[in-house]
Amino acid sequence: MMQQVNIGLVGAGTVGGAVIKALIERSEMLAARLGVRLAVTRVAVRDLQKAQAAGIPSHLLTQDWKAVVHDPSVHLIVELMGGTTTAREVVLAALGHGKPVVTANKALLSAHGEELFKAARANTANLYYEASVAGGIPIIKVLRESLVGNRVQSIRGIVNGTCNYILTRMKLEGAEFSAVLADAQRLGYAEADPTLDVDGHDAAHKTGILASLAHGFWVRPDQVHVEGIRNVTRLDIESAARLGYTIKLLGVIKSVTPGTPPRRSPKAKAPKPGILVAVYPALVRNDHVLASVNHAFNAIAVRGDMVGETLFYGRGAGGDPTASSVLSDIADAALDLHHGSHQRVPAFVAHASGKVQVVSMDKVTSPYYVRLTVIDRPGVFARIASVLAEARIGISSIIQPEGHEGATVPVILMLHDAPQAALARAIARIARLPVVKDTPTVIRVEDTAD
Ligand code: NAP
Ligand code: HSE
Repeated sequence: MMQQVNIGLVGAGTVGGAVIKALIERSEMLAARLGVRLAVTRVAVRDLQKAQAAGIPSHLLTQDWKAVVHDPSVHLIVELMGGTTTAREVVLAALGHGKPVVTANKALLSAHGEELFKAARANTANLYYEASVAGGIPIIKVLRESLVGNRVQSIRGIVNGTCNYILTRMKLEGAEFSAVLADAQRLGYAEADPTLDVDGHDAAHKTGILASLAHGFWVRPDQVHVEGIRNVTRLDIESAARLGYTIKLLGVIKSVTPGTPPRRSPKAKAPKPGILVAVYPALVRNDHVLASVNHAFNAIAVRGDMVGETLFYGRGAGGDPTASSVLSDIADAALDLHHGSHQRVPAFVAHASGKVQVVSMDKVTSPYYVRLTVIDRPGVFARIASVLAEARIGISSIIQPEGHEGATVPVILMLHDAPQAALARAIARIARLPVVKDTPTVIRVEDTAD
């Protein structure tokens, strides 16, 4: 008789529903490939009728997650409910029973990852989270196992399908932000609370997880700089396109050499090496591969010191692609149970070279795109240029898009490399000029070479 691993799911919505369907439909194929039979034996949801209408067999269903987690016949728990409060209780309770847990919940890992991984170690039960970053792309396994011999030098990724879907349709169709967001929700890409997507927090949860894996220590959510896409307008997208760029929401993890203080004593210690962990919308040159990643697709460019540049591309959101990653974790967990093994390449272990520090965005320099709304009269450019000159920020080009009539007009400035803090001060001064109307829009231009 082939051994059977009984699986309990907490949550059966977009992702959980796709996982159950795949486990039922592909049962024979998976059993043949793994040598272990995978059976869904309990499923917790809030709304029983909704789950039944979605085709989940009634005899599996309960509204009580504890009935799933505490059931001794359930060997493996799959948490697909989302949120950070009850989900934390679910995961801790399952690990407390020594049961392996599979989760796709990046918000949970971001908020409580340190505690959950500690509980997993204490109970010699693994916590699997492939689906938490970039949907169907197996990036966790890549960083944890495939690139284990590398020092990771940089990671740049499009890691939020909803934002990429919105920005793509705004660019290709001139669509309006709110209408496209509604489509992303209907297609199952967005979080239950879509502000997590559009304000950059979901991408920040994922970028923090990737940074922690790549650098061997837990990056706290408050160490991740976060900006979303709410302030990106169609005019910005069109102007960027005219300049040869595409606007993308990026998760960026890169080494940053902290600046040298102006007067250093000979005894001053050399600054510690630092990494930037950040999420922001950025202008990406059209000849860079990330510029052509469209709709709900994600892509992550990882540069390692041995392997060089690598790129991982695929569907970053939606039921089936995410379920594909959940199935991969379920298969690993089932094989671990079957063979009595808990060994994985340990995550979050500091490198022998020691910890790096996460640096503040203020210290990072970048070229910038700035859009101002100004009164249409002579001398305006000179006043703006003088503020930038005083701040020692160079202008590489000034564009006034054609076809705008009325008392105010947009002006686009492309600025040379400037430290974030200096730029913010200069923009605040520019915003106070009487000739400048509306809040300036500032978007980084990503230098993909560093
Ligand atoms: P969803 O469609 O909203 O499904 C959530 C499921 O959890 C529903 O079945 C819901 O039941 C159930 N649930 C919520 N609270 C519960 C409770 N207290 N007790 C029992 N069941 C409860 O969410 P989803 O899109 O599948 O996302 C699930 C997780 O996967 C989230 O952590 C999300 O961030 C992550 N994820 C999603 C995607 C994606 O593309 N959607 C991709 C990667 C990762 P009712 O329906 O009855 O309320
Ligand atoms: N809401 C998320 C996204 C789901 O749009 O990327 C996948 O993690």
